[in-house]
Amino acid sequence: MYTESKYKRYTITTALPYANGPVHIGHLAGVYVPADIYVRYLRAQGEEVLFIGGSDEHGVPITLKARNEGVTPQDIVDRYHQIIKESFKELGISFDIYSRTSSKGHHETASEFFKKLYNEGKFIEKNSMQYYDEEAGQFLADRYITGTCPHCGNERAYGDQCEACGTSLNATDLINPKSTLSGSQPVLRETKHWFLPLDQYETWLRDWILENHKEDWKANVYGQCKSWIEAGLQPRAVTRDLNWGVPVPLDEAAGKVLYVWFDAPIGYISFTKQLKGDDWEKWWKSPDSKLVHFIGKDNIVFHCIIFPCMLKAEGSYILPANVPANEFLNLEGDKISTSRNWAVWLHEYLKDFPEKQDVLRYVLCANAPETKDNDFTWKDFQTKNNSELVAILGNFVNRTLVLTHKYNGGKVPAATQMGELELQTLEEMKGFPERIGRSLENYRFREALAEMMNLARLGNKYLTEAEPWKTIQTRPEYALTSLHVSLQIVANLAVLCRPFLPFTADKLSRMLHLQTEKWSDAGAPLLAEGSVLEQPELLFDKIEDAAIEAQVNRLLETKRQNELNAWKPAPYKEKVNFEDFQKVDIRVGKVLECKKVPKADKLLEFLIDDGERKRTIVSGIAQSYPEPEKLVGRQVCFIANFEPRKLRGVLSEGMILSAADKDGKLVLVTPGREVTNGVNVG
Ligand code: MF3
Ligand code: ZN
Repeated sequence: MYTESKYKRYTITTALPYANGPVHIGHLAGVYVPADIYVRYLRAQGEEVLFIGGSDEHGVPITLKARNEGVTPQDIVDRYHQIIKESFKELGISFDIYSRTSSKGHHETASEFFKKLYNEGKFIEKNSMQYYDEEAGQFLADRYITGTCPHCGNERAYGDQCEACGTSLNATDLINPKSTLSGSQPVLRETKHWFLPLDQYETWLRDWILENHKEDWKANVYGQCKSWIEAGLQPRAVTRDLNWGVPVPLDEAAGKVLYVWFDAPIGYISFTKQLKGDDWEKWWKSPDSKLVHFIGKDNIVFHCIIFPCMLKAEGSYILPANVPANEFLNLEGDKISTSRNWAVWLHEYLKDFPEKQDVLRYVLCANAPETKDNDFTWKDFQTKNNSELVAILGNFVNRTLVLTHKYNGGKVPAATQMGELELQTLEEMKGFPERIGRSLENYRFREALAEMMNLARLGNKYLTEAEPWKTIQTRPEYALTSLHVSLQIVANLAVLCRPFLPFTADKLSRMLHLQTEKWSDAGAPLLAEGSVLEQPELLFDKIEDAAIEAQVNRLLETKRQNELNAWKPAPYKEKVNFEDFQKVDIRVGKVLECKKVPKADKLLEFLIDDGERKRTIVSGIAQSYPEPEKLVGRQVCFIANFEPRKLRGVLSEGMILSAADKDGKLVLVTPGREVTNGVNVG
């Protein structure tokens, strides 16, 4: 390690994703990819690491989803836990354990934790008035209530939060509260809950975070903590009236469970116990252990304030040394949203781009929203693959290996002609492990990745200057020397790219028969003269436009669907009086002929029997009726006294009525049964 450290081991946690939907690129870029890079780096440094993940399987949204689908909450979490766990594994997120909060071990640990705090008098008990649904016969926790946000007027705010303005709310703040269960208006009833008095920890928090972590915590994290603390902390309920979760382990608390944000972070501890058995405590109680939580910005208050207060109240635990929370990743300029299906889902990506795990890891790390929200676009995904992974890293490795096979039978050549350029290049190579390592140790993953790519750039630059494909004719010993040097860079890349691109590192190490994965070995030459190399395989291949278009089209289709779902009738117009209405002469007529108007792709020319004579009407509905001849014989409604006007040279005597459906398609208005041509509509 390059930065001084008093730690002997690392306890690394990643936010437990809710098991009510699959994982998307926003989760990955914000939490799991950086955490995995960090962990793989620590392992390459020979550090003792524990990497913990798992599913968060409690909470109201899971019970609501289950109700909607007519299944049990357990069915929901079983389904998504499986999908999430598999897809993380396939992407190479190298958890030591990926468990779940519905497990027995977790329930036990969370119960014990609560009981200890309860017995030591760390909670306050309070009776308060909470909403109760009389029809459904139950209390309404959090999202079981919706209503109007008192801050921004959003009519679909939840009992715990308004997603439109981001304010966290109490259910009793909502205007016009409604039960999600029955739709009825809930009543207030008294109920007892247990609260963690966060206000009592304020002085301690100020000292621990505001005084001691100003330098080493990220500005976005520090800033959020500061504003929470300065706004004044309130006692926080840690129990809920709900039947899904960890039951509150008290006789008087039948029908109550621990609040999901109380039990979930304890999951980090219970999963450690599940994996390590009797050896678990040092990971959580020894000051030699460095605890780091990887999370997204919406989790900051829970990991920097509430969970630390729980740990502090318990008394025997270490606290997080750092919480490198990221901002959010957007998708094609729009906020990622599960409910609007605006996301790239990991399990779908893995199906659409098999064997391209490292490409996604690369793009997400390069775009990680470390200091501000960032955008993922498919175009950028393609560019980063084609002009960086293929053109810089892949190209350098491939050129070096192909030439070595061509000129030296696939063996590492001797370095007999080292010149100034060679010595200088190897000297430059020396600096990379430390530069990349320092960035990683400081949670600057984008910078670290860019530096790794700079080593590949150094390789390309060296090859271009040494030109072994030319010097092989004039100075063959020098050409072979330059391949020796290039191969050392390739081997260094195999070690240094491993945290970011583990699949590529495996492939490269196999091709080189490279023996080491140790970070401390890098910087120096790693391949001995004469050692044998495998035939080169391409590390990356080009992603064609068609593959990108397919993804973009899928998103466009999603957008279209969302617009349809959000459709509302146009605002109703001002009143008109009967006389005015009667001025409009609406009639029924029969279509005698119908054809396209030449050179006008929207217009159809109708010949109508209006009961008195034949009249021509031009109507802009061609795109909804691609086979106009099929309309012959049909009755339509039309405005007969509409000012005649010329359209594309055809005189139109009226206007045919149609309804514009919400997808934009026009539909002719026809009487419910055949009537006499020329009758009035009104
Ligand atoms: N499930 C939460 C979320 O997705 C994160 C829980 S993190 C834990 O926002 F610490 F509580 F486990
Ligand atoms: Zn609001």
